[in-house]
Amino acid sequence: MPSLSASLNSKLPKVGPTIFTKMSALATHEKAINLSQGFPDFECAPQLIELVHEAMKSGLNQYAPMAGLPALREKIAEKTAFLYGGKYNPETEITITAGATQAIFTAIASTVNEGDEVIIFTPAYDCYEPAIELVGGKPVYVQLKDPNYKINWEEVKKVINQRTKMIIINSPHNPTGSILSKKDLAELEKLTMQSNMLVLSDEVYEHIVFDSEKHNSVAAFPNLAERSFIISSFGKTYHTTGWKVGYCLAPAELMKEFRKTHQYNVFSVNTPVQAAYAKFLDNRDAYLELSAFYQEKRDLFRKLVEGSNFTLKPAQGSYFQLLGYENISDEADVDFAIRLTKEFKVASIPVSVFYNKKVDHKVLRFCFAKQNSTLEEAAAILNKL
Ligand SMILES: Cc1ncc(COP(=O)(O)O)c(C=O)c1O
Repeated sequence: MPSLSASLNSKLPKVGPTIFTKMSALATHEKAINLSQGFPDFECAPQLIELVHEAMKSGLNQYAPMAGLPALREKIAEKTAFLYGGKYNPETEITITAGATQAIFTAIASTVNEGDEVIIFTPAYDCYEPAIELVGGKPVYVQLKDPNYKINWEEVKKVINQRTKMIIINSPHNPTGSILSKKDLAELEKLTMQSNMLVLSDEVYEHIVFDSEKHNSVAAFPNLAERSFIISSFGKTYHTTGWKVGYCLAPAELMKEFRKTHQYNVFSVNTPVQAAYAKFLDNRDAYLELSAFYQEKRDLFRKLVEGSNFTLKPAQGSYFQLLGYENISDEADVDFAIRLTKEFKVASIPVSVFYNKKVDHKVLRFCFAKQNSTLEEAAAILNKL
């Protein structure tokens, strides 16, 4: 009898538990300060919890419409027009999803066919590659270069061919904290118009951009928006990553395909949380003040480790800071991250895991979405190395 695992013929043979799961588990086991996984260690606005509670008490406890509560879709349309000038019809062009992860999977599954190529930039957030591979597509990698992690558009041009179906961009970027400029988006616009490919724009950190820079959403570029899925996450904006609600914007033609998959991989999303976000979105300050809130944390963390032996990489957006440790050790980054957790009790993510070829520049990613006291404690340890 062949073994079960042989007959299963895994569709994702290379995939195991994610590094985030592993490092968070190690941090818990070692009682280490956890700056590895990207989530806040502080609470969301109490008003938001009240709004969910009120929605539950008022009987909003059954299935929401497949595309999401109309009130929430309308508020998202308003926000997108207000911030970026992009016009999306809440009826046909906005869908509420179970976090950005499901939106990313659904956008890929509904448009990428067997043999299609999808361009991704490494280091890359970890959910793009398996989604592409599961549907029979082929990830094509373009590397961002340390320390600025900017896109070299000449390299992108070289990998585009007849089979290129989609390009995935992510700004502000996880894990590097780099952001795309207007010029970058203009370059992308030129390339997509010549090649007819789709764009998936992962904008989950759209409200976390520093030093008076503005987030450049694809929604502000009409020629790009007409071929793009734009994906965001309320988890990142409202300190509620555990509620897993996000959304996707796309022109009606693309959204029609997206919803065909969405209705069978999730059907609809948590109703009371949607009702709460719909009301909370009236409070524009809650998202407009987020950049300043996180900039204070970024600045604090950078100042605290400035005199250490780590080297600070630029951090323009998102809630991650990369630190190089080439002056401390020549261990591989995975080994060093594990030792840092076990011996020194600070958990981080080694950046090589975000590369298909596991490129090791001796860099670790630290999440600064933490209370100031947590950052101070972690920095005191890092300063000793
Ligand atoms: C770049 C990026 N995209 C997508 C996600 C997933 O977002 P969600 O938790 O809403 O599924 C994350 C979460 O860390 C992320 O960093």
